[in-house]
Amino acid sequence: MKLTVVGGGSTYTPELIDGFARLRDTLPIEELVLMDPATDRLELVGALARRIFARQAHNGTITTTTDLDAAVEGADAVLLQLRVGGQAAREQDETWPLDCGCVGQETTGAGGLAKALRTVPVVLDIADRVRRTNPTAWIIDFTNPVGIVTRALLQEGHRAVGLCNVAIGFQRKFAGLLDLPPAQIHLDHVGLNHLTWETGVRLGGPDGENVLPELLSHHGEKIAADLHLPTTLLDRLAVVPSYYLRYYYAHDEVVRELRTKPSRAAEVAEMERQLLALYADPALDEKPDLLAKRGGAYYSEAAVDLAAALLNGGGSPYQVVNTHNNGTLPFLPDDAVIEVQAAVGEKGPKPLPVAPVDPLYAGLMAQVTAYEDLALRAALHGGRDRVFKALLSHPLIGQYEYAETLTDRLIAHNREHLAWA
Ligand code: G6P
Ligand code: MN
Repeated sequence: MKLTVVGGGSTYTPELIDGFARLRDTLPIEELVLMDPATDRLELVGALARRIFARQAHNGTITTTTDLDAAVEGADAVLLQLRVGGQAAREQDETWPLDCGCVGQETTGAGGLAKALRTVPVVLDIADRVRRTNPTAWIIDFTNPVGIVTRALLQEGHRAVGLCNVAIGFQRKFAGLLDLPPAQIHLDHVGLNHLTWETGVRLGGPDGENVLPELLSHHGEKIAADLHLPTTLLDRLAVVPSYYLRYYYAHDEVVRELRTKPSRAAEVAEMERQLLALYADPALDEKPDLLAKRGGAYYSEAAVDLAAALLNGGGSPYQVVNTHNNGTLPFLPDDAVIEVQAAVGEKGPKPLPVAPVDPLYAGLMAQVTAYEDLALRAALHGGRDRVFKALLSHPLIGQYEYAETLTDRLIAHNREHLAWA
């Protein structure tokens, strides 16, 4: 089995390698290719990746290359984990929306739109080249904003699945609180990428007993504290929103906080400097603890699970993925990309049926789906008017004066990445 990671020079890659090494029985990788245009990082990360494999006596080969066509030739799956413009562009996304009193975040709101506009054309170009070289390869997309990027890929007919670690993070957390093995926990997970709610926590599988009420009554305070939301809110909702919902439910509070501290991009850039210094040490042969301070916990396990299900019928029987709605949520268009539990096999993901969704959540999902549709149009076709409409449609923006100003800011800060601007 051959796997290719586009963006393989990322400081996150050792997390992925660690998972590949530990979970080799689930996903027997013979050949792993790390592809990245940044050669200096790629060599550092590639050398550490080889040391991690060696320490864990994994006999798969790891090669590095800047050549995309060579990298994907013969690959069974291609993982996309790239960041157009790097942390510098992210820093912008997290900063200029704050001037309008809007949240500055890399996937939510105006910053997320900027990231989508920079990223969609690059990812589609890569996917076209993958298809030309290797039409049967699966594309597993981690590249944010995952919902919009996956929608773009599927709309163009690519064999793609979008993946995020929010669900696996909750699964692991709830398993810990209930003192059960993670595989015993099945989440009723519903929504769009970075806009999801856990509406049930079942034991053993999709038909198992729902223990969410007990979980909330025993551990509600801890769960709420980790989300930085009041326990009373969780009690009233009786579901668990993802931490990205805090940008909606506590928008103004978040904006006040963001205005008084360094951006996440600045924090991450500093961590990346430290990580790269650690990676350069030839004695290091495991992922360093510092990597746990990044947001990507468990993404390697989610990736192994998904790749195993797509490639060899292995992995967990049900997995939370991003895929076409196709009637699963009847209040959304079929071509919307949703994030739900799916049975995943060699033909791809098939969403499980979802119980009727409370209008409290369905309304927000519908509005953000409309935004994602308009955002994708703006990313594909460009133009100030399309950017303005996408921003106006976003529930966290909505007013024309903000949308006008944010449109100008977005274009000014991203001109070098936008072919049409
Ligand atoms: C979580 C999200 C990812 C996001 C990451 C950011 O893992 O699911 O989509 O990229 O957090 O983490 P960072 O350490 O870069 O802030
Ligand atoms: Mn994510």
